[in-house]
Amino acid sequence: MEHKNYDFGLVGLGVMGRNFILNVADNDFKAFGYDLDQEKVDALKKEGGNLEKVDASTEIETFVEALAAPRKIMLLVPAGKIVDQVIETLLPHLDEGDIIIDGGNSFFTDTDRREAYLKDKGINFFGAGVSGGAEGARKGPSIMPGGNAEAYTHIKPIFEAVSAKFNGEPCVAHLGPKSAGNYVKMVHNGIEYGLMQLTSEIYDLLKKSVGLDNDELHQVYDLWNKGRLQSFLVEITAEIFKQDDDLGDGRLVDKILDKAKQKGTGKWTSQNAMDLGIPVPTIDVAVSMREISALKEERIVADKLYDRPAPLPIDKDKIIALAEESLYFAFIIAYAQGLHQLADASKEYEYDLDMSVIAKIWRAGCIIRAGLLEDISDAYTADKELPNLLLAPSFVDKVQGTLASVRETVAYAAQSGIPVPGLSSALNYFEAYTSSRLPLNVIQAQRDNFGSHTYERIDREGVFHTEWGK
Ligand code: 6PG
Repeated sequence: MEHKNYDFGLVGLGVMGRNFILNVADNDFKAFGYDLDQEKVDALKKEGGNLEKVDASTEIETFVEALAAPRKIMLLVPAGKIVDQVIETLLPHLDEGDIIIDGGNSFFTDTDRREAYLKDKGINFFGAGVSGGAEGARKGPSIMPGGNAEAYTHIKPIFEAVSAKFNGEPCVAHLGPKSAGNYVKMVHNGIEYGLMQLTSEIYDLLKKSVGLDNDELHQVYDLWNKGRLQSFLVEITAEIFKQDDDLGDGRLVDKILDKAKQKGTGKWTSQNAMDLGIPVPTIDVAVSMREISALKEERIVADKLYDRPAPLPIDKDKIIALAEESLYFAFIIAYAQGLHQLADASKEYEYDLDMSVIAKIWRAGCIIRAGLLEDISDAYTADKELPNLLLAPSFVDKVQGTLASVRETVAYAAQSGIPVPGLSSALNYFEAYTSSRLPLNVIQAQRDNFGSHTYERIDREGVFHTEWGK
């Protein structure tokens, strides 16, 4: 083996790692993999074919010696302690100026800690969110890197080559310092949770209201995917309705247990939004619904205790049209909430994020890619300081046009006993965010009444306290 001439190193040759490294090699960079598991190393070598471009080893020395300076080493290992362990394994073999890129869904404060620790040792550390699943890793993911801007110039050509392209533009950009990339990926996943919840509850609504079967559901989602709802998640949902069950009769979707798992990124988004004081209720509800779904045994008991109304009669075409308007509205709200959080986090953590760039690199490759992101990117290009998408002039008509249908859909679902928590949270968020007067004056009065917490007035400056009831 010729030493020191591999352009890119990758640690962790699971499905994601293997696919990513093959993608790097397809783009004419020489890539070297490392994994402790000999089988994974062999699998890569077998698939890699041309060993001129791809090689791998279970030996850390062989791995680091193969890489050209400055070494660019990407980790695709599970988030958590393993990342720290891999860093410790690599450290004694690295030289000043080398670059480590964590491509997993690491929590952003872990990335900040690692970045500071490695900076001290002269190593550049990047947190780079990678979205698009196994297929994305192989054919072109959306990549969200954060870290030292100067060191990024070494990674840039490789990432731009391997990333997904939208109209020829690479879906990767240096997003900011330190954990900016991991943070953006976390919020990407929060939005992902919201969109997934919304697409699933609209399926429930169409099924329970007018009894659409899987073929009809496929047709509806497939048609939607050709219009303004065009998105990866609507596309795969259409596909899901058509999938036959290999292990039995009928369609697979009807046999899948309705308990959704989660790895934590959606929950982190909600938790951090609470810390920042930015409301993201549609993302919160998506996390809560996964939790409610996990309580299957309790749900079965509770179902027997309470009566549920029969769904109100409604015309099939009408509910399909209402559902389309509602999903479009709620998608906008899910993006609006996530981007609002990003805009605020950018100030709080000094990421200096460019929201139009973020929307641009989400247009292809990632799980939340959607036609809508083109409009979102334009809105932030027009106003870089936009606090919330709902304030963008270009979105007012889009949203306004759906409102009557959304209100009708939520009312219909409530009267029919069909849960639409994502949609109703989106509507109520909208109703509240666009109200110049909210009833929180009463809450302020209550706080002052029982705890002397004081209040402000609308008609004069100052802080007031009242001896209530006296
Ligand atoms: C992506 C995804 C991915 C995430 C899975 C699972 O952008 O490719 O966000 O990073 O790990 O979607 O997430 P949950 O297990 O939490 O649903």
